[in-house]
Amino acid sequence: MTTSPAPASPPAYPMARTCPYGLPPDLSRLREEEPITRVRLWDGSTPWLVTRYDDVRAVLADPRFSADAGRPGYPARGPSSRARRQGPGSFITMDPPEHTRHRRMLIREFTVRRTETLRPVVEETVERLLSGMAAGGQPVDLVQAFALPLPSTVICHLLGVPYADHAFFEEQSRRMLDLQGDPSAAADAARTLAAYLRDLVVAKAAAPGDDLIGRLVLRHVRTGELTLRETVATAMLLLVAGHETTANMIGLGVLTLLRHPEQAAEIRDADDPAVADAAVEELLRLLTVAHTGRRRVAVEDVELGGVTIRAGEGVIAAADAANRDPAVFAVPDELDIHRAPNHHVAFGFGVHQCLGQPLARLELRIAYRALFRRFPSLRLAVPDDRLSFLHTMPIYGVRSLPVTW
Ligand code: HEM
Repeated sequence: MTTSPAPASPPAYPMARTCPYGLPPDLSRLREEEPITRVRLWDGSTPWLVTRYDDVRAVLADPRFSADAGRPGYPARGPSSRARRQGPGSFITMDPPEHTRHRRMLIREFTVRRTETLRPVVEETVERLLSGMAAGGQPVDLVQAFALPLPSTVICHLLGVPYADHAFFEEQSRRMLDLQGDPSAAADAARTLAAYLRDLVVAKAAAPGDDLIGRLVLRHVRTGELTLRETVATAMLLLVAGHETTANMIGLGVLTLLRHPEQAAEIRDADDPAVADAAVEELLRLLTVAHTGRRRVAVEDVELGGVTIRAGEGVIAAADAANRDPAVFAVPDELDIHRAPNHHVAFGFGVHQCLGQPLARLELRIAYRALFRRFPSLRLAVPDDRLSFLHTMPIYGVRSLPVTW
């Protein structure tokens, strides 16, 4: 049985990718050779890194691992994420029963059935953006023309945030999340965004409309269940999680499909939408855009895979490594849109599993198919070694994607 002392020089985490489409080679090596091991973070701390699929799911399903970013030992992603977490966080960093209380207030907003009511908004937005692309000059940056405005428009519609403010909140969100940005700039961006949402929530408290924030106000703020601060924290989580993740999945997903034209053609030509549905799952698995690991801290001693993780020690459950674990996924580094079963952990696992996944799926399923149908000859407008990737963001993606058709 191994116990706590860290090896003399644990490897630094996160590890560098050598290919923008692949896992960092050192991460794959650890999964094969030392699946539960210590790594060194930016602040010198040495949490455990868990890389195998079964172990990642075990960590995320175990209540002895806390998601509370305020607990000592929690492995923060960087100085900026620590700096912006000074205030009360949202429920993504809470544990039950507090987490359950918050999540329960939102569950009915994100069921598969409820999300289907957003289909017309998603379809109309997709059509409008694609028509805008067709009407303009070429090349087009697909990130700015399609990948980002689609989820931004949809999350604004759902929450009741004016889309006219999108440039503002997209910018604050980027400043807030950049792991190598200035910590005081990240904290400032978080405060600025919170102040903006506070004004919006206050306005809705006076005159609630038929949108998610309005419904939260009517059902939970007016009853005293939810404070103004908590409502702002929830709105901020939904606004940021609702656009960054899906936007990067669209951009990087399209790029991946352009590199696999035969699979893109299948999505385009299939009458059965199930082909696009399966392709979305495969892209979610392969790309795992939330690529900096799910962060937890042990609240009790836990034995896992022959290792004892002591109370107070941090744990990083590397979903990207788990999603390419050859023990679970055959030929894991290859894109196979027919892969079945495909029980990836790209949306996490356990109580914090992504609340917005029905919405993300709806947007992605419509977006990829409609794009390749409208532009069957879509191709990169620059050599692919000119593309730049979001290595320092907690959500991975391609910075811009110049395309032509
Ligand atoms: C492809 C797009 C998306 C990906 C890859 C993704 C990924 C994730 C992951 C990995 C988690 C788990 C975090 C953890 O365990 O620490 C999560 C949680 C969450 N996501 Fe997403 N997400 C996506 C889209 C969305 C959308 C569209 C929304 C909202 C409309 C959303 C809202 C949330 C919320 C509220 C949580 C916190 C859940 C909780 O703590 O109970 N996500 N997401």
